[in-house]
Amino acid sequence: MFYEPDKRNHGLPRDPFKALVVPRPIGWISTVDIAGRPNLAPYSFYNAVASDPPVVLFGTGLGPGRKPGDDAIKDSQRNAEATGEFVVNMVTDGLLDAMNRTSAHLPHGSSEFEAAGLETVPSQLVRAPRVKASPVHLECRYLQTVEMPCTTPGGRNFVVFGRVVGIHIDERVLKDGFVDISLLRPLARLGYMEYCLVDKSFSLDRPD
Ligand SMILES: Cc1cc2nc3c(=O)[nH]c(=O)nc-3n(C[C@H](O)[C@H](O)[C@H](O)COP(=O)(O)O)c2cc1C
Repeated sequence: MFYEPDKRNHGLPRDPFKALVVPRPIGWISTVDIAGRPNLAPYSFYNAVASDPPVVLFGTGLGPGRKPGDDAIKDSQRNAEATGEFVVNMVTDGLLDAMNRTSAHLPHGSSEFEAAGLETVPSQLVRAPRVKASPVHLECRYLQTVEMPCTTPGGRNFVVFGRVVGIHIDERVLKDGFVDISLLRPLARLGYMEYCLVDKSFSLDRPD
């Protein structure tokens, strides 16, 4: 089959695009607003895009839960831009339900940490708190936002970039000095409402 996303002519019950770029890591983004109130939300349009220095991005936009006319700028983006900081918490085995709860559309200023019953720990370099139960945290300084095209009337899509300035790793996921995937057990996003658990890996040397 072939379809053109702009024409929405896939003829399938659901748009398959997000099932075709998989698995996607889930950036669980914690921020504070300018009044210091914490916010936490998952973003699967999330990835690392450079390693020296490390840079990550997350993409925000209208999702199925939001309708045209709703405020198109999500709190994570708004707070990162306003404070210049955010933290990425890694979503691992055991954190699925809590992560999902933090995707609820709470009013601006309400804490998803509280709503999901998650404990926080302070960060070292930024004001946004970390999710205590998460084994990896990337403390980030906001770099820039780039606006993407959006065909949904009233919608807007953005990519938010951050430079990673501090990295926390729970010693329990390290083995012989390496991050061990079977101990880390990250969760990742597939298409539709599907997820996967990464608990197996193999090594492959490069040709040169
Ligand atoms: C697993 C998962 C991944 C998500 N990924 C994204 C994403 O990449 N971009 C986005 O705009 N919303 C995404 N969402 C929805 C947001 O988490 C949701 O809109 C949330 O309320 C935004 O919160 P905020 O306004 O506090 O930032 C995702 C939700 C879930 C459960």
